[in-house]
Amino acid sequence: FSVENTRNFSIIAHVDHGKSTLADRLLELTGAIDKTKNNKQVLDKLQVERERGITVKAQTASLFYDYEGKQYLLNLIDTPGHVDFSYEVSRSLSACQGVLLVVDANEGIQAQTVANFFLAFEAQLSVIPVINKIDLKNADPESVEKQIEKVFDIPSDECIKISAKLGTNVESVLQAVIKRIPPPKVHRKNPLRALVFDSTFDQYRGVIANVALFDGVVSKGDKIVSAHTQKTYEVNEVGVLNPNEQPTHKLLGFLGLLHMEVFNQRLEQEYNASVILTTPTVPYKAVLSSAKLIKEYREKEITIINPAQFPDKSKVTEYLEPIVLGTIITPDEYIGKIMMLCQARRAVQKNMMYIDQNRIMLKYLFPLNEIVVDFYDSLKSLSSGYASFDYEDAGYQTAELVKMDILLNGNIVEELVTVVHKDKAYSAGKAICERLKDSLPRQLFEIAIQAALGSKIIARETVKAYRKNVLAKCYGGDITRKMKLLKRQAEGKKKLRKVGNVEVPKDAFVKVLKTQ
Ligand code: GTP
Repeated sequence: FSVENTRNFSIIAHVDHGKSTLADRLLELTGAIDKTKNNKQVLDKLQVERERGITVKAQTASLFYDYEGKQYLLNLIDTPGHVDFSYEVSRSLSACQGVLLVVDANEGIQAQTVANFFLAFEAQLSVIPVINKIDLKNADPESVEKQIEKVFDIPSDECIKISAKLGTNVESVLQAVIKRIPPPKVHRKNPLRALVFDSTFDQYRGVIANVALFDGVVSKGDKIVSAHTQKTYEVNEVGVLNPNEQPTHKLLGFLGLLHMEVFNQRLEQEYNASVILTTPTVPYKAVLSSAKLIKEYREKEITIINPAQFPDKSKVTEYLEPIVLGTIITPDEYIGKIMMLCQARRAVQKNMMYIDQNRIMLKYLFPLNEIVVDFYDSLKSLSSGYASFDYEDAGYQTAELVKMDILLNGNIVEELVTVVHKDKAYSAGKAICERLKDSLPRQLFEIAIQAALGSKIIARETVKAYRKNVLAKCYGGDITRKMKLLKRQAEGKKKLRKVGNVEVPKDAFVKVLKTQ
């Protein structure tokens, strides 16, 4: 395929604004999937995605479309829609020259619409606004056009109004992709340079990498080198993508609770793996204080991913924490509560503007660790579900941080080691101990739950001893029933994690983290 007839694009949207439905329509129109079969949402194909109705993992499809006598190859790179997955969105966008920005004609611009728009804008991509769900009774596409002009500075006549559900006007979306998005710039004569934006492993075929080609060509039999690892690989097969060739088996670190739960579920479903979850953590940095330490670590500024390796204050001149620029869009009646929530999360307000008669867009700088666990859930619940939220990277800032350990009968629970802001250590420690107390079953001995900063204990709870005798129910009777009960108890034990002599059910970790 000639480069001039190729387009690489993504669809970005707020959750539920209709990205997957539009993708399906585009696949149908170009014959990539069969309309007559019930192929609903081919791109959302992982089992968990189907169960939860959200897109988690970017999938890619190649569409062939004839327009004005020429055949075009349109590579559609799907992106996840939920706020917890913004990392995958940026990755997918780096392989594109343009995006379809889908906005619900009823709900209008939401936080993720804004965040996704700016990701695309900063990557200098062409943005085609698509107003979806015009078939809805309460649809107000004209007002959404005005919002788009006000917030993104895109002339309202550039908006394409469609119903992805009914297929109305979807063809003009494909035409706009060809007309408004430039072809990729590939210099075929130069040496190969490609970006791997996704990869999977196939037991029979090996590593399958989805790449965006920047320079050169790649063919079967070529030897290629990874710029990152310097390892050499042989190319066994080259192809464009088809939606049914995409099993996805990869794991990127957790960005939020939903992310964590979804991947836990995926690992259990797809690999039958038993998973122990740890506190979602953000990458902190520390500036080392002495020449000796700098020599030891070979760097002045170190990044700490694992809280267990957080260096002591005596080794450090300052700690740095990642911050993000958050966008919140909300009906104005919730503004007071939302501002209080943001303040409690150490956020600094940057901007505030009305985007229509009664909805406000707020911009705040947040420490990432303040939003990574449950900010989104709190925001949703205090706004009755109406406020939306998304965020993008905004670098690092200095912060007074401390490492907090959680101990069970004196033994550190590795999964629960966290780094917290100094001012929040007491309340966070107390809350974790209380929740752990509620989720730990009584055992044969007393359990002391403690939160500690170094050797200093800052909170304590106790779980009283209790003797659990499953056989008591059998009254010495039926032996097979006894065996069954013992077997069930043994199976239950597999779902336990031992910390010292204390048995912790695995779901206790999720419970402790969830309401933090
Ligand atoms: P995520 O995968 O979670 O990011 O959501 P999404 O943006 O892909 O949304 P999806 O395509 O799953 O659509 C969300 C809901 O809106 C579904 O119930 C769709 O049937 C519905 N929907 C999508 N497009 C239209 C439309 O044009 N009109 C109407 N009435 N409903 C639509």
